[in-house]
Amino acid sequence: MECRKALEDKCLRNNWCRELVRLVIAVEGKDESHGYPHTLRVLCRALKLAEGKNVDYKVLIASVLLHDIGRPFENETGVHHAVLSAFIARLVLPGLGFSPEEVAHVEKAILEHSFSLASSRPDVKSSNKSSIESCILSDADKLDALGAIGIYRLVETSAQRSRNMHDTLGHYHEKLSKLPQLMCTEEARREAEILLERLKRFVNWLYEETREYADLVNVVDKAFPLHG
Ligand SMILES: [Fe+2]
Ligand SMILES: [Fe+2]
Repeated sequence: MECRKALEDKCLRNNWCRELVRLVIAVEGKDESHGYPHTLRVLCRALKLAEGKNVDYKVLIASVLLHDIGRPFENETGVHHAVLSAFIARLVLPGLGFSPEEVAHVEKAILEHSFSLASSRPDVKSSNKSSIESCILSDADKLDALGAIGIYRLVETSAQRSRNMHDTLGHYHEKLSKLPQLMCTEEARREAEILLERLKRFVNWLYEETREYADLVNVVDKAFPLHG
């Protein structure tokens, strides 16, 4: 199903979903990399990954919409945003008609979505099996870090965090290049491989051009040994 139609059918017709979207817009802001545009892209990916699967859409959509809602409070509290987002979900969802079981389900999916909160990744193999909603959220979120969108987010986030080129490439190797292996569903893994190739091409060009730049710096460093 086309993303816009899925968003209208599965979300915007329901009052609880409209309220969550309103909250996400107010809290996350318009930042392309980590604001509500990111959350909407993840929702779109998640709805596509859910097609043909036996998914609880209410749980999936609430999990996606709230998965990063704690991010704006991460720096000031020092608490991981997934933990904060799960906490906010627990506060907000009962008032929107979610049962205690649904709230617990959403909380678990949110806690498992993050690459950096390694202790709580979706685990489909263990006896404490993760839900399909948890898998889909985690996969959809990771897909948004790859491909051309991933390049855009990598550069924008590096600029926002004053990360230099060396550290930006480090982030690619430490996190982004590993994302296909962390996918929970087979479709997401295949898509991630394709998107990683695009990102890899960009990174290789960056290496190529940086090498030339590094040579220039070496020449100047030799000519002016004391300048630094
Ligand atoms: Fe996140
Ligand atoms: Fe996210």
